[in-house]
Amino acid sequence: MKKIGFLTSGGDCQGLNATMRGVAKHLFEHYGSDLKVYGFKDGYKGLINNEYDVLTSRDFSGILNLGGTILGTSRVPFKELKNEEGMPRVKKMKETYNLLGLDCLVVLGGNGTHKTANLLSEEGLNVVTLPKTIDNDIWGTDMTFGFHSALGVATDVIDRLHSTATSHSRIFIAEIMGHKAGWLTLYAGVAGGVEVILLPEIPYNIDKVVEVLEARRRAQKKFSILAVAEGAISQEEAKMSKKEFRQARENMKYSNISYRIADEIAARSDLEVRVTIPGHVQRGGEPSAYDRVLSTRLGAKAAELIINKKYGYMVALKDNKIVPVPLDEVAGKLKTVPLDSEVITAAREIGISFGD
Ligand code: F6P
Repeated sequence: MKKIGFLTSGGDCQGLNATMRGVAKHLFEHYGSDLKVYGFKDGYKGLINNEYDVLTSRDFSGILNLGGTILGTSRVPFKELKNEEGMPRVKKMKETYNLLGLDCLVVLGGNGTHKTANLLSEEGLNVVTLPKTIDNDIWGTDMTFGFHSALGVATDVIDRLHSTATSHSRIFIAEIMGHKAGWLTLYAGVAGGVEVILLPEIPYNIDKVVEVLEARRRAQKKFSILAVAEGAISQEEAKMSKKEFRQARENMKYSNISYRIADEIAARSDLEVRVTIPGHVQRGGEPSAYDRVLSTRLGAKAAELIINKKYGYMVALKDNKIVPVPLDEVAGKLKTVPLDSEVITAAREIGISFGD
């Protein structure tokens, strides 16, 4: 009997169910009734507390286009597991794995999740992972599942802002998720045809931003839209040490960077500014057709690795091929937008400002 455990960890996104379906369908095709699947509840917590449901092939039917995760998820911060106090939890995860006699643990998650998965792999567990996140910031894969779906939502938000911005001759800021990476903001900004894109990778100068907005007004353009990454930073902030930056942000009187930018624009001009923060809406709902295909490809490949007993890998999209990448190469690295990205170049060439 082949015994496989599944868990989804960290923030959810579109495509989690589609991906698990891809893994499970391939495994059931291969092993038939000789397969037992355990679905751990709420991420690593389920593995720590030995909480799971036994899943049959039926549980993976009808979930291709279902948002969220049928297993539930949670965040168990890696830094808490690495110290002495965290080790009992790692021990408990290993105990559950051994108690159930698992052959492999299938982990769907983002950066933090991959650090923990690598730790478990180093502790001797058989692990195969799949790259999930709307942020697209996992090293080793060209694209994560969830990104394309979230991009559709973020672009729709910007599209809808266009009509109301035009009617009122206003400046609109759309704050886009993405944590410390600007992928989602860059792509949504270009897809939505905005005038200004502010990314964590390109610190902005607020005076430059205002100059762009004023120039548009002088050119009789009635409105402007800015796509601002939730992790955007100013040029002054970029010069700070990590500690200084943390303190500055703790003392910031705004809940979100977009509100600060809105106030800064208003203080330097008589432009009327509004802020829209779609937030978790970007992660909700069904996966796009592209993500369903990507999820299925990644899932089927993960099952292939398991069948071939090739453990300690993340399945990734590289040059439009699905390939295994060693987990220890992925863990602890962040994939941010390279400054020489062709998308940035194209955006600049058509006159989009990055506020620098
Ligand atoms: O990593 C996905 C993400 O949606 C980020 O874009 C965002 O910064 C974060 O998760 C939000 O986390 P939470 O769901 O815990 O509020």
